[in-house]
Amino acid sequence: MSTARPHPVIAIDGPAASGKSTVARLLADRLGFSFVGSGTLYRALAWGLIQTGIDPADEAAVATAFGTLDFACGLERGRSWVAINGRRLGTELEEPATNAAVSPASRVPALRDLVVDRLRAFRLDCPLVMEGRDIASVVFPDTPWKYYIDASPEVRQRRRAAQGQTDSVSDRDRADRSRASAPLVVVDGAVVIDSSEIAPDGVVEAILADLAAHQAAFLPAMPN
Ligand code: DC
Repeated sequence: MSTARPHPVIAIDGPAASGKSTVARLLADRLGFSFVGSGTLYRALAWGLIQTGIDPADEAAVATAFGTLDFACGLERGRSWVAINGRRLGTELEEPATNAAVSPASRVPALRDLVVDRLRAFRLDCPLVMEGRDIASVVFPDTPWKYYIDASPEVRQRRRAAQGQTDSVSDRDRADRSRASAPLVVVDGAVVIDSSEIAPDGVVEAILADLAAHQAAFLPAMPN
């Protein structure tokens, strides 16, 4: 058995459109870590379920159908990719139908177990910055590096609209916070950063400063 230490993981959780994926991507690039947006795995499965013709809100149907999908994911050049039945997904992940299906589908515990297994496997390869809803609470509770990025509902809805998306972040928040399985929570010890008035670069700087204050061993020498 290997006694090597696990690769470091920086967990970034938060509600929809809080800016966490932009922050996580920038931070990963600053540190030379791989970036994983865990929502893309849930989105890929939601998209696949739509193709099967079942209703993503039908928990029993989802629990049976997701296992029939040939779901693959991996890391390439510092980014994660997802595929369903051999098709690598990109814009499909942001389609309105996928937006609508992803919260109900991601309530199903067996589907979550599959995604959590795949997310944990990424850590075997390299250091990660991973963003989502339950990265600190469920996926990597052992990581000391836990950040929760928030922003006001108004700012988040505006950001979503600026991305050309029409889904309601408040509806998704309600679903993500109230579900029984791995709801969105702020875990003990997480550093909460409100990004309503701070640009992504500023949030990245705040995280780097916190990592430096805690003498994270993986920090490269940073120019001021
Ligand atoms: O981060 P995102 O908007 O791409 O996530 C889409 C949905 O996926 C989100 O509304 C709930 C689900 N999700 C989850 O349940 N757990 C995660 N770690 C990430 C996303």
